[in-house]
Amino acid sequence: MSRLSERPGDAVVGLALPHESADRHVTGHALYTDDLVHRTPRVLHAHPVCSPHAHARVTRLEVAPALQVEGVVRVLTVDDVPGVNDAGVKHDEPLFPSEVMFVGHAVCWVLGETLEAARLGAAAVQVDYDPLPSVVALTEAIAAESFQGARPVVERGDVDAALAGAAHVFEGTTEMAGQEHFYLETHASLALVDEGGQVFVQSSTQHPTETQEIVAHVLGVPSHAVTVQCLRMGGGFGGKEMQPHGFAAIAALGATLTGRPVRLRLDRTHDMTMTGKRHGFHATWKVGFDDDGRLVGLDTTLTSDGGWSLDLSEPVLARALCHVDNAYWIPHVRARGRVARTHKTSQTAFRGFGGPQGMLVIEDVLGRCAPLLGIDPIDLRRRNFYVEGQATPYGQPVRHPDRVRAAWEQVLASGDVVRRQAEVAAFNASHPHRRRALALTPVKFGISFNFTAFNQGGALVHVYKDGSVLINHGGTEMGQGLHTKMLQVAATSLGIPLERVRLAPTRTDKVPNTSATAASSSADLNGGAVKDACEQVMARLREVDAGRGLAWDDLVREAYFSRVQLWAAGFYRTEGLHWDPVAMQGHPFKYFSYGVAATEVEVDGFTGSHTTRRVDIVHDVGDSLSPLVDLGQVEGGFVQGLGWLTLEDLRWDESDGSGRGRLTTQSASTYKLPSLGELPDELHVALLEHAHEDGAVYGSKAVGEPPLMLALSVREALRQAAAAFGPPGTSVELASPATPEAVFWALERARAAAPAPMVEV
Ligand code: MTE
Ligand code: MOS
Repeated sequence: MSRLSERPGDAVVGLALPHESADRHVTGHALYTDDLVHRTPRVLHAHPVCSPHAHARVTRLEVAPALQVEGVVRVLTVDDVPGVNDAGVKHDEPLFPSEVMFVGHAVCWVLGETLEAARLGAAAVQVDYDPLPSVVALTEAIAAESFQGARPVVERGDVDAALAGAAHVFEGTTEMAGQEHFYLETHASLALVDEGGQVFVQSSTQHPTETQEIVAHVLGVPSHAVTVQCLRMGGGFGGKEMQPHGFAAIAALGATLTGRPVRLRLDRTHDMTMTGKRHGFHATWKVGFDDDGRLVGLDTTLTSDGGWSLDLSEPVLARALCHVDNAYWIPHVRARGRVARTHKTSQTAFRGFGGPQGMLVIEDVLGRCAPLLGIDPIDLRRRNFYVEGQATPYGQPVRHPDRVRAAWEQVLASGDVVRRQAEVAAFNASHPHRRRALALTPVKFGISFNFTAFNQGGALVHVYKDGSVLINHGGTEMGQGLHTKMLQVAATSLGIPLERVRLAPTRTDKVPNTSATAASSSADLNGGAVKDACEQVMARLREVDAGRGLAWDDLVREAYFSRVQLWAAGFYRTEGLHWDPVAMQGHPFKYFSYGVAATEVEVDGFTGSHTTRRVDIVHDVGDSLSPLVDLGQVEGGFVQGLGWLTLEDLRWDESDGSGRGRLTTQSASTYKLPSLGELPDELHVALLEHAHEDGAVYGSKAVGEPPLMLALSVREALRQAAAAFGPPGTSVELASPATPEAVFWALERARAAAPAPMVEV
């Protein structure tokens, strides 16, 4: 056990506590960025002027008519930018574009005394466009070779020779759609300028430091002139890792130019049409198995739909390539990656960050090949699990692969899978128009940012004279329970009750140079930093105590009068990481998170509609820092994954009509989210036991993203249920999302027992 992971006997970490803001969330007292508007006098409201074209040059921009509208105060255009006209870190995202790149792209912003005035002003702005050819569908982009950014390849062994010598070789194509984040709180920023010109931006951002940097470069000021604060987010899910920056910059620019506070909050339609989503992916693959169903080689090309600019597409692609193996040993691999440029929103981080897309490919391969190999899918998957001593295609040894096996066996047992498979078979034999199926899938997800430098965290811990404690750390709270965990870490490290510790909102002037709250790593990084700060204070207090065993309050008081520093800045960096982004080799992850899910579904043969009857999950969170929080993350992640894979259907107008490039599913009425009705009838979640993680704070593991990928079991169960409408051995291609419509067409193909379009080659 390492010093970092060791837990004292009376630890506050590990207690099953509610989320620290749960009472405020449910009573409506929790403050979100836009709630501050009502506490801020003289606020101006910002409204965008959005492009109706997927791709066009702006030939004329006439703002004067907007200024005639009552209540309009100013129109922000490119001429107002004192610094760099760019909202990203790749310098490919002009804040005010002269060439619009997607339907909804903001050409300029109108500031009004009321939101309605700003809206009417925006409607009065005259813009002339010279339409240009556009690429909308991902397949169109591939055909047109419309790509952007790097083209990484993860490679090991000799895949061509392996496939040439394999007993069974199959090839196919796998496509999957993206996903709208649909955080309950849409993008929001509120900017103020103080008497010294210091800019203060409250933003719903997962990455306050980068928001600060972008605001600073747009304003042409140093970072110390800009402070960004995030109280909390009403969900981020990756959608607020990169995307808030431009909106914060608009608000800040408006505030510096008018001297008045400026508020920018997107309504739902704007949020859906203007901001990036999960990347849809297209994959081609060729796979080889030996006679026992063991994978011998995989040659695959993954193309993501990046949208109009790079944003986070390259790192998302890297993570996808690092997860095409999922939990399986594939001796010879070549995985190529490309980012397509399309005239759509700039696709971005979304829970799993490419991992889900990479893993979907191999699960699709196994799900389609199992019937062709004549091997039960449960068996096929188990036969291919990593064992100790093997490494991933990018060269990282897989530590604790036995945990997948342990979770797999536990799910088989607790889910009573063998008995239920017999029940499923009996049900199918006696119901001509309905089919059930049960599928298991594993998850192996790498924890840490691929980019090594991001794996650092900071914290500030103040012990006041009265013994009360205030902590600050670099992470943001978006509902995932990070703050709850950090309070527990501080109380544990200081050896005091939780009530003595309070947490202050995340601000760039408290903890600087932070990484995004992302990659599920925030408890690892900031937890390490909080613990470090607390331990510095404790070391000094121990000296003051000198073995007397003083009570906390007395000790603190005595320390103060002895002029001992009672606060500390903590720092943590994850050791042992390295990554070569060109060779795509290294040791990018501190450890892997594991999990297994078993899902039973029922499909209606007339409509393809389906229900998820029962789900059993065993998930590895190490020694949990906060079991209730982790349980919520597992449940929420799973259901969000279920939404991505079975319900949520983003559609863009791909026609040549005037609506080309428009997102046609731009509200909750046309975009189906999971709701109570789609929850599994039974959902059993257990945390894997004996799962201490030596390399992380108090023996815990990250939890935020990995459970989303457990939902691949739903998709595999649906595939098997659709196949059960056909003769035994039917291989089914299932579109993603597996909406009722998609499932219907899949089962129709199975029924027709049309030979699978995928044949052994
Ligand atoms: N849980 C809630 N309730 N809301 C969110 O927005 N975001 C997810 C996950 N869980 C999210 C969530 C994503 S994308 C990530 S990367 C992690 O939380 C980030 O937080 P962590 O690093 O503290 O796990
Ligand atoms: Mo999460 S997609 O890393 O914000």
